[in-house]
Amino acid sequence: MKEKIEKLLTQIESLKAQGEQEVEEIRIKLLGKKGVVTQLFEEFREVLPEQKRELGQVLNKLKVAATQKIEELKESAQANMQPTHSLYDLTKPGDVVELGARHPISVTMDQIVSIYNKFGYTVAKGPEIEDDWHVFGSLNFPPEHPARDMQDTFFITHGENPVLLRTHTSSVQVRAMENMPLPIRIICPGRVFRNEAISARAHCIFHQVEGLYIDKDVSFADLKQAVLLFAREMFGSNAQIRLRPSYFPFTEPSAEVDVSCNICKGAGCNVCKGTGWLEIMGCGMVDPAVLEANGIDSKVYSGFAFGMGVERIAMLKWQVKDLRHYFENDIRFLKQFQTVI
Ligand code: DAH
Repeated sequence: MKEKIEKLLTQIESLKAQGEQEVEEIRIKLLGKKGVVTQLFEEFREVLPEQKRELGQVLNKLKVAATQKIEELKESAQANMQPTHSLYDLTKPGDVVELGARHPISVTMDQIVSIYNKFGYTVAKGPEIEDDWHVFGSLNFPPEHPARDMQDTFFITHGENPVLLRTHTSSVQVRAMENMPLPIRIICPGRVFRNEAISARAHCIFHQVEGLYIDKDVSFADLKQAVLLFAREMFGSNAQIRLRPSYFPFTEPSAEVDVSCNICKGAGCNVCKGTGWLEIMGCGMVDPAVLEANGIDSKVYSGFAFGMGVERIAMLKWQVKDLRHYFENDIRFLKQFQTVI
């Protein structure tokens, strides 16, 4: 038995383990219930009394050696699990966090709104999913008007008063006339939808800002002034405007507004196609039939309305040539407006 113990002692000394799992296996083999060391203690009971003293000492030595070795192996297995050097190099410069920029459309829209806020207009909003009455019917669009065609409008339902995606923010005018007390002086920024093939000059989603002013004695001269003051705030204090007769079902008379080209200052360039003028919005006096359709007495009240495309204003301001840039979210494009903001 003594020899057996001596042999085990040398074996224990040279034990090696890879990982905590192996250490545990060794512990079971040596000190577990059926482990060799435990069994030797069992055998020790049968040993003759005169041998007990000497064998007892070596046996205890063996137990201590086994326990110590296991402890050692456990520690080094745990140490191996941890990296010997830090994972982090605290002297390294940090990663650059790319700063985003406000989208040029949001910037332009906010700018238009804040100009009109200064003139006393408040913001009104309406739903993007609308019905025929608010987008077309109450705005004097005749039943056979091409805008009511599937080719131009995204319809959600069909029938008597179909549900559709609004094609202009003029629907917000209607909701304001229905719900707001007079006088009304509102600006309506929002997203609109048209069933158009996407190209450099057209998109199926874009943004408009609509304005509406209804009060007693509102005249075309007031409209002209509201448009001129806006043009000067937006395009510079020297900006000039001109109005060309036009047609919209909901205004009479109607006009198209041009602003003097801010790039060539009227001399003619390729942005204004040599004319010196850039078209910026549509406008007109609210048709009395529209006022009446919305319960407003057209003999007492009159009003004007205007509407502009935000993408177009932003294109003119920053000379963006392709509308699609606004929707592609290319950081190289968007970043250019950081300095502007
Ligand atoms: N709703 C028109 C459009 O989408 C724009 C417009 C023109 C709005 C004249 C107006 C207006 O309020 O008076 O083309």
